[in-house]
Amino acid sequence: MSKFPKDFLWGGATAANQYEGAYNVGGKGLSIQDVTPKGGIPAKIGDLNPIITELPTADNLKLEGIDFYHRYKEDIALFAEMGFKVFRTSIAWSRIFPNGDELEPNEEGLQFYDNVFDELAKYGIEPLVTLSHYETPLHLARKYNGWINRDLIAFYERYVRTVFNRYKDKVKYWLTFNEINSVLHAPFMSGGISTPMEELSKQDLYQAVHHELVASALATKVGHEINPNFKIGCMVLAMPAYPMTPKPEDVLAAREFENQNYLFSDIHARGKYPAYIQRFFKENGIKIDFAPGDKELLAENTVDFISFSYYMSIVQAHDPENYHSGRGNLLGGISNPYLESSEWGWQVDPIGLRLVLNNLYDRYQLPLFIVENGLGAKDVLVDGIDGPTVNDDYRIDYLKKHLQQVGEALEDGVELLGYTTWGCIDLVSASTAEMSKRYGFIYVDRHDDGSGTLKRYKKKSFYWYKDVIESNGESLYD
Ligand code: BG6
Repeated sequence: MSKFPKDFLWGGATAANQYEGAYNVGGKGLSIQDVTPKGGIPAKIGDLNPIITELPTADNLKLEGIDFYHRYKEDIALFAEMGFKVFRTSIAWSRIFPNGDELEPNEEGLQFYDNVFDELAKYGIEPLVTLSHYETPLHLARKYNGWINRDLIAFYERYVRTVFNRYKDKVKYWLTFNEINSVLHAPFMSGGISTPMEELSKQDLYQAVHHELVASALATKVGHEINPNFKIGCMVLAMPAYPMTPKPEDVLAAREFENQNYLFSDIHARGKYPAYIQRFFKENGIKIDFAPGDKELLAENTVDFISFSYYMSIVQAHDPENYHSGRGNLLGGISNPYLESSEWGWQVDPIGLRLVLNNLYDRYQLPLFIVENGLGAKDVLVDGIDGPTVNDDYRIDYLKKHLQQVGEALEDGVELLGYTTWGCIDLVSASTAEMSKRYGFIYVDRHDDGSGTLKRYKKKSFYWYKDVIESNGESLYD
């Protein structure tokens, strides 16, 4: 008997700005991603301020991505061959509203996603659509300073109304903002906020957070009005924090770190600001400006499910300066001496995933959805029996261990809708904007210098995941 429910949604995840390419085709406007330099958002992600330019950066790999825009039929056929039940992608806001603040949408952009959803439907693959995945229209960042400005709520509402109406019979599962909590650490990438991090006040940052939370609740409201069968979820970057020692001060530090993330799921699931944030606001002189109706909107439009990404756990201490800090983690943290790291310094912790699932389910009793998990690694293409392939046993090992922990969480009683691995087909990485950090079951021949044929090759993990899906997870225990 499989531990996984029989209608479990197995699949993979992507985002428009990292794989579509065609950045200026079909009437698409520029997004903030189109002006980010190649190779680089690295550690100082929040410091990046590319708003100085309004031109796409020539060596930016995201401009062409992996050209899903022109190859979606081939790619979807490969997903179907693996047996995907669900495919997570995002709609590029600037393909629908090129500047973000127009009154009328771009029909060619809308048609493109019709084509994608129709192609998925041919194979019975359910789309799971992120409405905003780190790809705010550039114009909204330049003219309005992103989500700091309340006007963005109205622009976002117009955009989500448009796509909800258009795809109301084609898409059931929606996510309002990708990793909404990451705006605290990457305000430009996540919130289109062009003020450099060192000049950004906490007041402005948390006001921007408020605007996004209100927009998310509004999207949930509008979506349910348009189609009551819609399932609309929030999406958070999940990262359990362990105390460095059992010292109560360290335990408290870990808890305070986790509260920064819980803030977002708490408001989405419970419809109000939690008590613990009041002290933080008070001590930091933050006063959130609530417009009339905000409070009710948040209270009355909580989400149908909680989705999250999970890559790693981190360690917190009250005196972090005394420890070696982890490399590569967007959210910082101290290295955990008990865990190994990926080539990019992300600490691998399958049990952390079981903890996240239990913590979130216990906290909200809402269905959960793992919409990102995976290993970014350097792959080497080699000759195989059926042509070029990658022997990515390390990826299989990572995914298998994580999925086994998902199985444990299911036995613990957690309600889980599905699991989509990140970057099921190789795509451009978000934090480092490079091709060589690969997550896929499908290798794409494109390299950091922009060279490559864009041909697709099945990796060993392609066949492994196909078996996992076919057996509804039973093959994880062979
Ligand atoms: C998540 C993002 O943070 O992590 C994705 O939602 C991203 O967009 C993924 O690609 C992996 O990060 P990276 O930097 O390795 O691409």
